[in-house]
Amino acid sequence: MLQPEAVERYHRQQQRFHEPSQGIEEDLMAIYERNEFVAGMPHHATRLFDALAREHTVAVIGVALGDEGKGRIIDNKLEAILAIPGVERAVVIRFQGGSNSGHSLEKGDIKFAVHQVPSGVLFPQAIGLIDRGVVIHPQDLATEVTYVEEKVGDLRGKLFLSEEAILVTDLERAEEALNKIKQGKAAGGTGRGIGPAYAHHYDRLGLNIHDLLSDSWRETLGKQYQYYEKEFAAFGMGLSQMQVPDFEQTKKTGTSQTRTVGTQEEFLDRLETARIWLLERNIVTNLFAFHKEIYEDLRYGILFEGAQAVGLHAWLGTRPDVTASDTSVYGVGAGTGYWRAADIADRIGVFKIPYTSSVGARHMPTEVPLPKNLADLPTDQTSDQKWAAYIRDQAHEYGTSTGRPRDILSLDLAMLTYNCRMAGIEVLAGTHLDISREGESIKVCTHYTDQKGNYIPYQPGLRYQEGVVPQYIKLPGWDGEAARQATNFEELPENAKKFLAFIQTRTGYPIIAATTGPSREHLVTFQGY
Ligand code: IMP
Repeated sequence: MLQPEAVERYHRQQQRFHEPSQGIEEDLMAIYERNEFVAGMPHHATRLFDALAREHTVAVIGVALGDEGKGRIIDNKLEAILAIPGVERAVVIRFQGGSNSGHSLEKGDIKFAVHQVPSGVLFPQAIGLIDRGVVIHPQDLATEVTYVEEKVGDLRGKLFLSEEAILVTDLERAEEALNKIKQGKAAGGTGRGIGPAYAHHYDRLGLNIHDLLSDSWRETLGKQYQYYEKEFAAFGMGLSQMQVPDFEQTKKTGTSQTRTVGTQEEFLDRLETARIWLLERNIVTNLFAFHKEIYEDLRYGILFEGAQAVGLHAWLGTRPDVTASDTSVYGVGAGTGYWRAADIADRIGVFKIPYTSSVGARHMPTEVPLPKNLADLPTDQTSDQKWAAYIRDQAHEYGTSTGRPRDILSLDLAMLTYNCRMAGIEVLAGTHLDISREGESIKVCTHYTDQKGNYIPYQPGLRYQEGVVPQYIKLPGWDGEAARQATNFEELPENAKKFLAFIQTRTGYPIIAATTGPSREHLVTFQGY
């Protein structure tokens, strides 16, 4: 049992963190002389429980390979936080990733996608923070905010960007293209410069948003341009001619557009427009003080909005085809510089219930091979292909950021269990419970073996997954339309309930909610949600 003295010690420690100036007026030498060391933990206390987390805090994290439908759970959780008596505002925090992510949103009849802007800003009482762990392309941010404002109104005073956020420009995007040429490989990343921007955060070549705002920005970024120019020249290529995504034109035309990086002057002039926008909007700030304020003030509910997923985590994902950030709950520490995973009371992992989808170069052992264009399916398609084609079509499995058709994979319980554990989540919310047909069976991967049938524990990384044999169980499907009509667990089709129970038992993680259709009301919640 947790002893009061342990709690008190915890609170003292918390207080000292939040009030670092506390005690500096005291006679510090006298504190030293008192020599109050207590060996080990207080009597009976072996650890301090998560119950001491900050109230009204939620993290929503993807536990598959991205695009799990996190936006729906974020939306619902925000509504729930704001309904708590005493909570007046919600703060939604992006702590990793960048414009590689995409959340589709709906507000009434309006449908649109956000990439760098936290999806929660749609709520009138919500404030969005783009924190220090995020990589930000300032021109794209300006385009995106303008676009979102056309849909939902003015975001002034509702959206803030950390001055410590990592700067990504067309240079890193051009470098991503160059890396592909160097490696002679097909596209691995989204082309948004995410990998190179984080790589340069590590090798210290990279810059932050405050570098763009400083008076000497033109000189700093000019040097950066010249550095890249030399790198490109070494490969016999001209930086100015490299094609990079043109988000503004893409938004205007509705199809993917590119432009060249241009000369140094052209590059700097474009950045200058974005810089002026950032300054005029006054959205760049030091978020540290704000974090301290909202930590202490329980009128604020806090939601940490994960992007990508643990299956794409830089270290824990299916390397090498991973993104470059810490996509787990633990990413909150480095990504905010203030909050810790242990502060978060409610940690939710999101996954697709009847299947998994993936976009990128990776091919997981559980993937059902499909042509990019469903019209090219062979006439003698297998039953697995029929099932996967139905899913891609029915669930519209095309990337929000890139429009690429997603690969369809069986639900992989070995990967899911591993990802949940490493993600630091405690409960699961599932999506797409309506993507199923009565009379059809669903293949679920339960574990892996080698070619001889010996059990192999799941390990992330394509190298380990080469040659493994996924072992499946076939479970009966259910009427998706009936699942859509359900308002509680009891009303769900019997086979859907059994499917959920199987996932829960095999993974060991409680399922606390399931989405059953595209609209906000298509959500069934269970005890503990
Ligand atoms: P990057 O994050 O652009 O470097 O891309 C690395 C890998 O992660 C690629 O396979 C991308 O397709 C994938 N990826 C990145 N962001 C997302 C996402 O939000 N959803 C799904 N896949 C993503």
